[in-house]
Amino acid sequence: MRFTHGGKCIAVYNLSGSFYATSGICTHEHAFMSEGYIDGETVECPLHQGLFNIRTGAALSPPVTKNLQTFKTKVENGQVYVLVE
Ligand code: FES
Repeated sequence: MRFTHGGKCIAVYNLSGSFYATSGICTHEHAFMSEGYIDGETVECPLHQGLFNIRTGAALSPPVTKNLQTFKTKVENGQVYVLVE
């Protein structure tokens, strides 16, 4: 899913009950990572199919060369929190 906080777009991923958060916009061009295809720990950008590791934000394949920013998450009382500085 995607949300915006303080002007920053964030994508949140649920990988088998573990939650991760990255910048919600691809580092290549303007595409929402929340609309990408998830395969295991990888998310594929919906625009040009660049791949990122969801846990680390690492750019894995062209055309993406710059990592996604990642954010810490925690779950408390059924709520998912994302630490956005
Ligand atoms: S916009 Fe994401 S790979 Fe091009």
